[in-house]
Amino acid sequence: MSITKKFYGKTPDGTEVDMFTLSNSNGMTAKIMNYGATITSIIVPDKSGKFDDVVLGYDKLDDYIANKLYFGAIVGRHANRIEDARFIINSTEYNVTKNEGENHIHGGLIGFDKVVWKAEVSTRGQDECLNLCYYSSDGEEGYPGNLDVKVTYTLTDDNELKLDYFATTDKDTVVNLTNHSYFNLSGHASGNILKHEVMINANKFTVNDKNSIPTGEIESVFDTPMDFTKLIPVENGINSKYQQIEFAHGYDHNWILNKGKEKAAEAFDASSGRVMDVYTTEPGIQFYTGNFIYESKNCKDGANYARRSGLCFETQYFPNSLKHKHFPSPILRAGDEYKNSTIFKFSIK
Ligand code: BGC
Repeated sequence: MSITKKFYGKTPDGTEVDMFTLSNSNGMTAKIMNYGATITSIIVPDKSGKFDDVVLGYDKLDDYIANKLYFGAIVGRHANRIEDARFIINSTEYNVTKNEGENHIHGGLIGFDKVVWKAEVSTRGQDECLNLCYYSSDGEEGYPGNLDVKVTYTLTDDNELKLDYFATTDKDTVVNLTNHSYFNLSGHASGNILKHEVMINANKFTVNDKNSIPTGEIESVFDTPMDFTKLIPVENGINSKYQQIEFAHGYDHNWILNKGKEKAAEAFDASSGRVMDVYTTEPGIQFYTGNFIYESKNCKDGANYARRSGLCFETQYFPNSLKHKHFPSPILRAGDEYKNSTIFKFSIK
């Protein structure tokens, strides 16, 4: 696996942004830039050997800067929603930016998706990997503590794109990092993902209110359209009258992953034969069907995206977990290390 680097553009304040291309011996490539530590392309073969880019994105840096959909980016400090944009740690209340009505989403107005990360290529065994680091200072977007964050991207010869997340803090804080890629295994410009089949290794999910905030209730997926314990087409349940799906206008929920080392999720596209398996150390996964991608014209390669053009598997701590003591805690204590990994593995069948 090798990595090349090329100048990509400049942010409005003149900071240079580079694009890194990770390539493996099978001809698979992944492009990642250090603005937002963003995955901008993943090119993999289909069952007839034809290569296609399977993630949504843009051609130009300016479009990523203006992008409100988090295409391919790392989101943090806290992925997804924090109710009322406030939480308590060690009896102190912290107020974070309200950037979705009264609530907070994906780290605020200038979250980790909207900053330039420091990039460095290193070697791990036989593979080169891309390390992206960001120093988030105490009080940024309202979060306590100075936080050192590192995300390492590695592409293996088994067609796995591996994301390793690390963070340390000097004051107790909250950390919940994820990647927000929108996948379309037929090719990023090929229309909607309704025919994709999905498996999520979860018997339970967290119930949302109408603002997509977990209420604290946990429900079984069985006998509901939330049951993805076996591969089923997304289109089967996405328009059902089930209240959770009506609230979100599709799938946009956190599934509680069954514990164990098996895969967390799978997406399969029969037309191309492409498969993506997801493995993670995280307790939850936000399966989101691009319900709010309103028409976006002139995106990557001139593509026009519309509602449901891509699906996301955002591995994570549960949204709103600071409010619900029975959810796994996303609090990182000073002196401890936040460490999580997620793998997106591509194959054909
Ligand atoms: C959220 C969606 C949101 C999307 C883009 C997902 O993680 O759950 O509700 O529209 O990100 O912000």
